[in-house]
Amino acid sequence: MRTDIAQIVRLEDYRPSDFLIDRVALDVRLHPTATRVTATLTLRPNPLGRADAPLVLDGDELNLKALALDGRALPAGAFEASPQALTIAQPPRRPFNLTIETEIDPTSNTKLMGLYRSSGNYCTQCEAEGFRRITYFLDRPDVMAVYTTRIEADRDEAPVLIGNGNRVEGGAAEGTNRHYAVWHDPHPKPSYLFALVGGRLGRVGRSFTTMGEREVDVAVYVEPGKEDRAGYALDAIERSMRWDERVFGREYDLDVFNIVAVSDFNMGAMENKGLNIFNDKYVLASPETATDADYANIEAIIAHEYFHNWSGNRVTCRDWFQLCLKEGLTVFRDQEFSSDERSRPVHRIAEVKALRARQFLEDSSPLAHPVRPTQYREINNFYTATVYEKGAEIVRMLKTIIGPEDFRRGMDLYYERCDGTAATVEDFLAAFADVTGRDLSHFSRWYAQAGTPRVTVAGTYDAAAQTYRLDFAQSTPPTPGQTEKEPMAIPVALGLVARDGRPMQATCDRVSANGVFLLDKATDRLTFTGVSAPPVPSLFREFSAPVKTTLDLSNEELLVLLRHDGDAFNRWQAAQSVALRLLVARSKGASVADADVAGTASALRAFMETDAPADPAFAALVVTLPSETDIAQEIGSDVDPDAIHRARRELRRRIGQACIEPLRRFRESLAESGAYSPDAASAGRRSLRNAALDLLAAADAALGERLAREQFESAVNMTDRLAALSVLMTLPGEARETALDRFETRYRNEPLVLDKWFMLQATIAEDATLERVMRLMEHRAFSMSNPNRVRSLVGSFAMLNQRQFNAPDGSGYDFLADIVLRTDELNPQLAARLLTSFSSWRMMEKTRQSHAKNALLRIAGKPNLSRDVGDIVARSLEEHESR
Ligand code: PHE
Ligand code: ZN
Repeated sequence: MRTDIAQIVRLEDYRPSDFLIDRVALDVRLHPTATRVTATLTLRPNPLGRADAPLVLDGDELNLKALALDGRALPAGAFEASPQALTIAQPPRRPFNLTIETEIDPTSNTKLMGLYRSSGNYCTQCEAEGFRRITYFLDRPDVMAVYTTRIEADRDEAPVLIGNGNRVEGGAAEGTNRHYAVWHDPHPKPSYLFALVGGRLGRVGRSFTTMGEREVDVAVYVEPGKEDRAGYALDAIERSMRWDERVFGREYDLDVFNIVAVSDFNMGAMENKGLNIFNDKYVLASPETATDADYANIEAIIAHEYFHNWSGNRVTCRDWFQLCLKEGLTVFRDQEFSSDERSRPVHRIAEVKALRARQFLEDSSPLAHPVRPTQYREINNFYTATVYEKGAEIVRMLKTIIGPEDFRRGMDLYYERCDGTAATVEDFLAAFADVTGRDLSHFSRWYAQAGTPRVTVAGTYDAAAQTYRLDFAQSTPPTPGQTEKEPMAIPVALGLVARDGRPMQATCDRVSANGVFLLDKATDRLTFTGVSAPPVPSLFREFSAPVKTTLDLSNEELLVLLRHDGDAFNRWQAAQSVALRLLVARSKGASVADADVAGTASALRAFMETDAPADPAFAALVVTLPSETDIAQEIGSDVDPDAIHRARRELRRRIGQACIEPLRRFRESLAESGAYSPDAASAGRRSLRNAALDLLAAADAALGERLAREQFESAVNMTDRLAALSVLMTLPGEARETALDRFETRYRNEPLVLDKWFMLQATIAEDATLERVMRLMEHRAFSMSNPNRVRSLVGSFAMLNQRQFNAPDGSGYDFLADIVLRTDELNPQLAARLLTSFSSWRMMEKTRQSHAKNALLRIAGKPNLSRDVGDIVARSLEEHESR
């Protein structure tokens, strides 16, 4: 049974596999409920393994039909088969072939792992441990084999058949109306990168010539009739391929590169070798159905999966503890790509907002874990913001510390050394240590120590000596299993800003030429000389390290940074810090001097009048207040989401009122002209114009409603239509309901657009929202078995509607617990993800805490929980000393 939650896998227990598999020949005869899989594995004992070990192949819900060794059926006593393992006690101690026949039912596979059907099409998902749901195997990433896959299907049911690698053969098969295709992938790979697809699919494609003059057929497969929405994705593939050649010198290595979009998918997408499979939400886009944010996500995820071809596939992971080796590095690579394709500072701000909202939250929760965990009960629960996003921040810090040239040299060495192998974090760091001659052992603590470090900085100016001193102190809070923390190696990119905006001529020999100081002790001190006037320190430029900062700057000083800092990230950060200070005080019920509110509003007004027009995308970020979750995190304990909501609404109103004129001018000057284009500059203009709408509505509800209704009716793209609708969500009444009805009618046959409609309604901050969500679950377009639907309605309610999910009567928690329990029976991965919305429960005030705890205990008490949900609920309830 997979329900035994006791089994813990530990990094320290790693040992090489006792057997290796060199080749895999698969014959898959697709059938809706009885697919036959014949796997011929070419095995041999691993010289690094135990000499007398039995052969134990992994399985999961498998049904063995036949078994032969070197072509001869194995006698019943020679093996043991259960749904989760196939054991041969005395296998040959020489190379041998094992032929295994299994039968699987893709139609009833609601977990969406292994072979399943989505809208009638066959597809697979094997990461992390899904291949064992197709055939018995050594389903671990350090067992790498060359795969040849024959796929056979009914011609009408599946005219398109695709596998990994290159297509080598195909034609008519035995039986009425059957056909087949054979695919061969010459690159040895772990089983988690295996994939096949069979179905009725439309195709758009083009040819790409690599830097080594190799012709690659690039194609995107989508639901027939949606080909006209695949163009942007296709274009993003080409740009990604070019970028990886130019920036990292990495060339593609097969004759074809295919992407298939499916409607039922647990994650964003999957980097299977030569055959990426995508959640269709991250492929399909047209101006009428996708927002600017959708376009940006598509570009980023296409790039991410493509980049995995080198960081993940050519160099893969030795074991699942090394997940960040491929994910952190690949997120870093896709972030750099998006920064190059768009605006670097704007993209960096978006990354940091996401990091704080998801990773900092996780790091301060009962689910906190190191970027490289040391143990797990269910690996699916470690595809987290910490592994992905903090993992990417570590790579970014490494580059900041050693500089771009050495970083590139280190990457080249890593690829050269580790190509074709299953590597570890140590292998990765060794490449950089070797090219720089640096000792990176202290730096490597970032992989091992969980929790977000806090850096406290105090500045002192000495007018007589013309010096400026910065005193640093760092500490990291306890996290589950780690009570004592060591100091981290923290790169601090910094500069001094003069109050009048002129550049400062200060020097300090501990700051590198590129402006970086490495804080690697618990406390340290920097002294700048030649400082002619008291400066304002600008620290952690470009967010040079994933830390929280306590810096004693006055509002005036922060506003100097907003106006004059040469680092755009810190200009944005300064505005956020000023606002956050007010919001936290108000949320805690403290009184706030009216002058502070007025001062902030007028600084923002000045910003809008002078700076905003030059960079609308950046301006939109500056004028958007910290989110309710940002505020809750900053408060940290005894949180009252109602008070936070009120405080934020009130400050938006005050700012909106103080800025009516510039906001109205943005509405005019940024009005859309010409055809829609998803490029960053056009998207930036739309985002400022829509941020202005939001603030105007906060200032004057009647005005806001009129403007939003007009925009909703006249919009010619989804970005503007949805922005208008989302402003209407904050304004109760007839207009809102009418607009929702019209939206529904207009997009009744567009599931991905209806997801937006579900999402907006789930985020309405009012008390009736839970009832609305329950009603929407009965909507004909809603389905508990489709992860996109569930996430947009239920997930949005739990993750984005702080007020109603955390309703003081516990109704939000109870609802979520019910959904988690229902979902767990169909799709445990989806259920476990929904359950992570409880991760902030200990931060809440007492009444809410006790309701949340009861809901969690109710889940924990249910018999036969999946390992996925069982693990998350157990860790969520565990007591530890983190607060
Ligand atoms: N490896 C995928 C990615 O990040 C994520 C994924 C994990 C997809 C597990 C499906 C299942 O790119
Ligand atoms: Zn990835």
